[in-house]
Amino acid sequence: MFDDLWYKNALIYSLDLETFMDSNGDGVGDFVGLNRRLDYLQTLGVDVLWVAPFQKTPNRDNGYDISDYYTVDPRHGSGGDFVEFMHEAKKHGMRVIIDLVANHTSIDHPWFQASRKKDERFHDWYVWSKKRPPDWNEGMVFPGVQKRTWTFDKERREYYFHRFYEHQPDLNMDNPAVRAEIRRIMGFWLELGVSGFRVDAVPFIIERPKLRGKKNGSMHFDFLTEMRDFLQWRSGDAVLLGEANVLPKDSKAYFADGQGLHLMFNFWVNQHLFYALASGDIRPLLAALRATKKIPPGAQWAQFLRNHDELDIDRLTEEQRQTVFDRFGPDPKMQIYHRGIRRRLASMLGDRGHSRLAHSVLFSLPGTPVIRYGDEIGMGEDLSLNERDAVRTPMQWSDEPSAGFSAAEKLIHPVIDKGAFAYKFVNVENQRRDPDSNLRWMRRLIALRKECPEIGWGEWEILPAGSKHVLAILYTWRGTSVLVVHNFADRPVEARLRIDAPGGERLVDLLDPISLDGDRENRYRMKLDEFGSRWFRLSNLNYGIERAEGG
Ligand code: GLC
Repeated sequence: MFDDLWYKNALIYSLDLETFMDSNGDGVGDFVGLNRRLDYLQTLGVDVLWVAPFQKTPNRDNGYDISDYYTVDPRHGSGGDFVEFMHEAKKHGMRVIIDLVANHTSIDHPWFQASRKKDERFHDWYVWSKKRPPDWNEGMVFPGVQKRTWTFDKERREYYFHRFYEHQPDLNMDNPAVRAEIRRIMGFWLELGVSGFRVDAVPFIIERPKLRGKKNGSMHFDFLTEMRDFLQWRSGDAVLLGEANVLPKDSKAYFADGQGLHLMFNFWVNQHLFYALASGDIRPLLAALRATKKIPPGAQWAQFLRNHDELDIDRLTEEQRQTVFDRFGPDPKMQIYHRGIRRRLASMLGDRGHSRLAHSVLFSLPGTPVIRYGDEIGMGEDLSLNERDAVRTPMQWSDEPSAGFSAAEKLIHPVIDKGAFAYKFVNVENQRRDPDSNLRWMRRLIALRKECPEIGWGEWEILPAGSKHVLAILYTWRGTSVLVVHNFADRPVEARLRIDAPGGERLVDLLDPISLDGDRENRYRMKLDEFGSRWFRLSNLNYGIERAEGG
């Protein structure tokens, strides 16, 4: 019944035009540049591109501060370039999803400018208060950088609410005219061919302004249903991918029995996965997987390792969080907002085996994997940059000046040119030629993941493996099964498994030309290398799927 839900089993690649490929030498990436890299993305195995905000913006928050929702920012090209890009992406067999930043606009947006002048039409488009609310300095999303959530506007002589930076006033979603406008924005980009939206800051879109700052304030989940209804009327197969870092018990309301978000980033699993990577102990990760197991049949988790923000570990216990900080971000300048780490994956994990483990786990988690540009070649960060800009440096294409990203001498986001992660060493061009490179390895891994549709579609269960370091997940879909086993310890471990499923008497390794036979009760003792991973297909159901070919 759900066979056509493409998003349940796809590889999503997240990129920011700004730092991906600059075609005209002005130091900022653009659509024409991205078009030239679609072959690369297709060869990598990408199904869906998630393109970060590219609309008109004063760019004080990496484009998440929009001043015109209907226009491409001229730095990235024109509306015509966008349409060309959509056409090319389609030709390359890729879908495109874009950000929907509905919680706030830029302070420069004409709507806000009109609202602060008490213009009749826009009077109530934002969240205003005549008096300074008692919680004016509470609930900041960027603690340490952001000082308050209510700011006095000299022109209107009232306070406006901003969950994020001061230059990002929150739209008043209680106002039906605002919601109608958000739908118009969705309709506009859907008509231009996008397959859906990564919905920015979902919990803040649906929180009720009147109750802001108060505990247990009610949430407008009906806004999500409203958005989904509209989306589905306009484009039957488009999706909403929500950014909502919420507790497992709360995610249910966001999926709304299949009437809300189609996909949600699994922040809960993400944070516990990092704890497992830091400590070698997978037990909290197992609990996180179980806690997020039940979702409506048409819904899906988006699993990820890193994104364009900090690695947020706020939801771990204090002790767990400290373990992750100690291991991956011990230096205070690696930490941010008292809850996160502003580093890239490869530099954080250091050891190559460790980052390969992380990616192998990612691709074997129940859900749709989302990868971040540059992680396929193991890029690092630049801690001298502001806040989250540390992880937003230009894609390293080659060892030419400016990493082959741009012909400009001066870039808006500087390239990484120092240390072990400098573009001279870490770049696509080098890795394309090196059979042992991260890029070639990622291509193989992605191919392998695509040979295992059970992971996106199937039922899954965690198998006891006799060790707190070993994660073993068995997937079954339409009578075929895949077993994926990972060792989180930095030393070899023997796993003990019993497979109670048809075909469990023989495991065919999908990476190495070997197979294992179980004993009479389908029990196995399996050697795993340090940070080792093994992907198997259960025997008699093996339809001759061959070893993933090297990239
Ligand atoms: C989301 C984005 C982040 C942005 C914020 C405000 O959290 O991921 O990058 O700063 O929303 O739009």
